[in-house]
This record gives sequence, structure tokens and C-alpha cells, in this order.
Amino acid sequence: MSVAKILSNRIELSNVSQSFLSNDKKITLFSDVNLSIQQGHSYAITGPSGSGKSSLLTLMSGLCEPTTGNCQYQDANGTIPLPQIRDKIGFIFQQFHLLPELNALNNVALPLKLRGHKGALDKARYWLEKVGLEDRMQHKPSQLSGGEQQRVAIARALVFNPEFIFADEPTGNLDPGSAAEISQLLLSSCSENGAGLVIVTHSERLATQAEFSLSLPVKPFEWHSSEVEKSHGKENQNKENHNKGSQQGERHYA
Ligand SMILES: Nc1ncnc2c1ncn2[C@@H]1O[C@H](COP(=O)(O)OP(=O)(O)O)[C@@H](O)[C@H]1O
Ligand SMILES: [Mg+2]
Repeated sequence: MSVAKILSNRIELSNVSQSFLSNDKKITLFSDVNLSIQQGHSYAITGPSGSGKSSLLTLMSGLCEPTTGNCQYQDANGTIPLPQIRDKIGFIFQQFHLLPELNALNNVALPLKLRGHKGALDKARYWLEKVGLEDRMQHKPSQLSGGEQQRVAIARALVFNPEFIFADEPTGNLDPGSAAEISQLLLSSCSENGAGLVIVTHSERLATQAEFSLSLPVKPFEWHSSEVEKSHGKENQNKENHNKGSQQGERHYA
């Protein structure tokens, strides 16, 4: 498969809305959201607590279905619903969600073993070395620091070469030094692997390290190029590829 073909793969949210019923009241978190996420690019979502960052991430990653609209995966062969491509998607949770009874090596090897890959342990070793944990492979999660556990979670998300990685506040539990290291590691690993990365963060610094960012609940929901922000509004040649048509995000109670 050629690089050009791989990098044309994308996730498309079309006319998406998300509503919840809460105490018999319908809460519409957002509606008419149109966004694209392209493989090989990095995106950050920021915003205050409760603004809908995690909800948007679970829609983009296919972990949740929207109330209305479509979340689809598009490649050279056509378009399919997101839940059908779970094996192409890695998700990194704020609380790591490592399996406590497995050591670091087996936590990282698990996604490969579940997919029936041969050489799972060798690939897991490669990724643990890559995230700087060559001396911690036999440690269980309880024997690792928060930063080390997050590195294991990153290695586990990347080990099966996913096309897209979604990370929900991956540095939220870490001290500033570890947070900077982890975010750099995540951005560089995704870029080396050609994976698309969407990261939810409270860190403005991390958000500007991603190529594109979106700040909830500002409407319309639209990716803004970090380069453009850095160069004070220079025209963004790529913007067309990352935003779809007209968009509206809104939050209202009915
Ligand atoms: N399943 C649900 N049912 C009802 N309300 C929900 C549900 N999921 C999220 N919400 C509400 O939607 C809002 C946004 O939540 P969330 O996406 O977790 O925000 P953030 O990640 O930005 O803190 C919150 O007010 C939350 O209570
Ligand atoms: Mg959240």
C-alpha cells in the first residue's frame, strides 16, 4: 500500500448531534457538527470541564454512536461506519486502564495477542524500549509511577500500528515535566507511525504542538491551524482538508 493511499484515510463526522436525557430533560451537547480527521495529522481539543471534550472524542473514535448524523471511516475502498474499524483505532485513557495482574510487557503485548499476531512479545519489547521503559518490562502497573504507566498505555496503543490514536487528557495526572515528555513522545510516535492523533488536553502548550486545534464550546466547531495561530493569521492552505462545509456546535437545554 502506498504512503499516499494510507494518508488519504480519514474519519468524517457529518451533521452529528449528541443529546442526553437527564432528569427527564433533553440536553443537547452539540448539533450539526461536521469535522474531518485525517490520518498522519495531529489535532487537539481543549475546553473547560463539562464542555463535551470526552463526548466528542468517543464519537470520533467510534466508541459511542451519535444521537443523529454519521461518524464514518473513509478510505480508497469507500465509506464504512466507524464501529466497524475498531481494530484500526487506539484509545489512551486518562486513568491508563492497564490490567493490574499483567506486567508491562504483557499489557503492551495484549492487543497483538488478541489479534492473533505472531511475535507479540518482541513487538511489545520494541515499543517499551521506544518509550524508555526497557528496565521496567517485568513490573506490574502498581510498581510503576504515573508517568511510567502512561508510557505503557502509549506503547499499548501504538503497538498494533493503529491508523488513528485518541487520547483523553493523557497528561492530566502527571507533573509538568512528565506531561511535557509524554506529550512529545505521543506526538513524535504518531508522526513516525503515520497515525492520526486526536488529543484532549487542558494544556494550551500541548494544544499548540498539535497541527490543528478546536476549543469547545466555541462555535462553529472547526479545526484551527496551530501554524496560522503562531504566524498571526497567515492563510492556511490545508484547512479545506480538515473542515467540512459549514458547521455549528451548540449547547442548549430543551
Ligand atoms: N451519558 C450521559 N448522560 C447524561 N449526560 C452526559 C452523558 N455523558 C456526558 N454527559 C454530560 O455532557 C457534558 C459533557 O461531558 P464530557 O463530554 O464528559 O465533558 P468534558 O470531557 O469536556 O469534561 C457534561 O455535562 C456531562 O454531564
Ligand atoms: Mg472529559
